[in-house]
Amino acid sequence: MNSLENIVSLCKRRGFIFPGSDVYGGMAGTWDYGPLGIMLKKKIMDAWWGYFVEQRDNMYGVDAAIIMNPKTWVASGHTATFADPLVECKECKSRFRADKIADGISESVTTEQFLATHTKCPVCGKENWGPIRKFNMMFKTHVGAVDDDSSIAYLRPETAQGIFTNYKNVIDTIYPNLPFGIAQQGKAFRNEISPRDFILRDRECTQMEIEYFVHPDTWQENFEKLLSENHHFLEKIMGLSKDKLHDYEVPADDRAHYSKRTVDFMFDYPNGQEELMGLAYRTDFDLANIERESGKSMEYRDKVTGETFIPHVIEPSIGVERLFLAILSNSYIEEEIDGNKRIVLKLPENLAPHKFCVSPLLKNKPELVAKAKEVYDQLRIKYTYVTWDDSGNIGKRYRKQDEIGTPKCIVVDFDTLEDNTVTVRDRDTTKQIRVDIADL
Ligand code: GAP
Repeated sequence: MNSLENIVSLCKRRGFIFPGSDVYGGMAGTWDYGPLGIMLKKKIMDAWWGYFVEQRDNMYGVDAAIIMNPKTWVASGHTATFADPLVECKECKSRFRADKIADGISESVTTEQFLATHTKCPVCGKENWGPIRKFNMMFKTHVGAVDDDSSIAYLRPETAQGIFTNYKNVIDTIYPNLPFGIAQQGKAFRNEISPRDFILRDRECTQMEIEYFVHPDTWQENFEKLLSENHHFLEKIMGLSKDKLHDYEVPADDRAHYSKRTVDFMFDYPNGQEELMGLAYRTDFDLANIERESGKSMEYRDKVTGETFIPHVIEPSIGVERLFLAILSNSYIEEEIDGNKRIVLKLPENLAPHKFCVSPLLKNKPELVAKAKEVYDQLRIKYTYVTWDDSGNIGKRYRKQDEIGTPKCIVVDFDTLEDNTVTVRDRDTTKQIRVDIADL
């Protein structure tokens, strides 16, 4: 069964993802990527960067600092409004996000509305609640040697503001024409009240965001264009099933404070439907606020018409962890082939950590090992993503390579020494064919 527990267990067993600070008993809401996990994560991030930045003439990248001037978060509205409704059980002192434990209420729920839901404490089962308090999710820190209010700074809760604060620098150095986009990938930090569902809701996540600057009159067509390009990326490049992806037109009451239109891309995760990414029309909210807070003009001057205005912004924003989990749950399959049960990750070939696995049929036969090494070295010249496996018996190796999603296993046996052919086994069908080494 494709349950979240099975995916978590595979991730730990095969070295994709470990609990953060595992050796000390963990750290809630944090996860570490192991040798295979980082390979998959990097491929996801590189594919996104390739498709949205490198293959386009009007996209530019930045890599901004994580700790930014605190004025950033005043201008963006995060200091005032980036808060979740926190409720405490008076009996057992457990704390929860009110909108996550009661049905049919939103993030802006009041104490009265929450109490009217007759929700019981998920920990002790009692119904004795304190008032709803707004809990700001930004992680605070102090910069420099002075530990008082004057030195407070925050770890960025979104990568977007590192883009907006560099908009002027990009305009003044690259002189782009509208529409153009600025992209960033990097860590974002949120002190989530209840991190949950493995890597779905973390306290430290990796965002991939684009701020796409457009003429205000053209926001709708650009919104539709980005909507379909993001579907293309998720379905054709990340290989997600079309029928597991759902567009959700977010109603005005539930939209972030800066948005005039938002479409959330929902994905059918093992524990239910959750937001995978968001596409938001942010108007000129951010640039106008930065102009006010910094006193510097954020206006753009059209080179042909001379028209001067603050561009409007469409923002596609996706968390790498949510995409990682979507890809894993989309490709995790338990099946029976010829009476044998197996777990297989049917990852798209462009994402699989290893493209090929080379092994000698028997590892105690030096002539087989030497020939297999030759094949391995030959493939390594062409492809980076080749792995070597001579552990256990051949059945165990296939089982391991299936679980980590290696599309092709190449086995050198005694026939190879005679006729220079090898067995190539296909991950998805388990069918084996003989191939001449020169044709690999
Ligand atoms: N700049 C807009 C922004 O940050 P968001 O909806 O708060 O909007 C965008 O976040 C995306 O970042 C989400 O769709 C999700 O993929 C990812 N994300 C946000 N919070 C997350 C968390 N706590 N854990 C994992 N991913 C998260």
